[in-house]
Amino acid sequence: MDFHHIPVMLEECMTGLALKKGGRYFDGTLGGAGHSYEILLRTSPDGELVATDLDEEAIENGEKRLKEFEGRFKFFNTNFKNFNEVLSLSGGEKFDGALLDLGVSSYQLDNRERGFSYMASETRLDMRMNSKAPLSAWDVVNKYDKAKLSYILSVYGEEKFAEKIASVIVERRKVNPINTTGELVEIIDKCIPYKFKQNGHPAKKTFQALRICVNEELDGLSEGIKDIIRGLKPSGRLAVITFHSLEDRIVKQTFKDLETDCVCDKRLPICVCGKKREINILTKKPIEASEKEKEENPRSKSAKLRIIEKI
Ligand SMILES: C[S@@+](CC[C@H](N)C(=O)[O-])C[C@H]1O[C@@H](n2cnc3c(N)ncnc32)[C@H](O)[C@@H]1O
Repeated sequence: MDFHHIPVMLEECMTGLALKKGGRYFDGTLGGAGHSYEILLRTSPDGELVATDLDEEAIENGEKRLKEFEGRFKFFNTNFKNFNEVLSLSGGEKFDGALLDLGVSSYQLDNRERGFSYMASETRLDMRMNSKAPLSAWDVVNKYDKAKLSYILSVYGEEKFAEKIASVIVERRKVNPINTTGELVEIIDKCIPYKFKQNGHPAKKTFQALRICVNEELDGLSEGIKDIIRGLKPSGRLAVITFHSLEDRIVKQTFKDLETDCVCDKRLPICVCGKKREINILTKKPIEASEKEKEENPRSKSAKLRIIEKI
């Protein structure tokens, strides 16, 4: 299967990163390597790229896709939250810029084997970005108790009918395990009243919740972003694309925190906290894809791009 993924807000990201010829860049979410390709192209002839992805298929595809830049990139099949380790393994020199394009790639969604899509029916529930990770969506759906399941669907999916869906899952699996995405979609479909099915696929929120839980997408995101920012050179930039409000909130809050100087009580005559502003936020409001891009690439509809500059 071809590794197909159209990079979201490509031009906005490249401009936002203020790429320099010969610069050194970090792409934490290599995916289909669309953004990485452009970084290497625009920093030619000697710009460098270090990239990570949890998915080894993304790494294999990246090696092929970026072949023409051989010698200028290094990949690590790991979580970008292990940034400090990657920085030291790649020589320790700080970066001129970094990019995170969070979430799943179109390849992962379209590749039915991976179990990310509610459109495929006979696929085993999986949803792991890293296929060697111990926890899959099958484990969550078949092993978690009702309260934990309901919590996950409600918090990570903002699903109104979380409790009902969790109850039916628990009843159904007493008879037989829920093995496929199709079986799960059928359960969800029965739990959601008709009038609430008008805004997109009824399984969308549950699938998002399971994916976030399985891949621990929100855990340590803020710390990971802080590590990346501390691994930038002065004036280095970080661009982050998010696709849902939960991760966008974390990115926004993390940036705000790093932009804040001294947090001492205003009544104190001198600063005792020692906190210093580390970044300037360049996007007071997040950038969204143009109407044209939204039409051409529906994935970009919910995308929000936030950019900072390190002080
Ligand atoms: C939206 S795609 C990136 C697409 C890429 N920018 C492009 O132009 O093709 C997200 C990719 O990031 C990977 N990913 C998501 N979270 C990750 C994490 N915490 N660490 C490393 N890779 C991650 C996914 O496996 C997926 O391949």
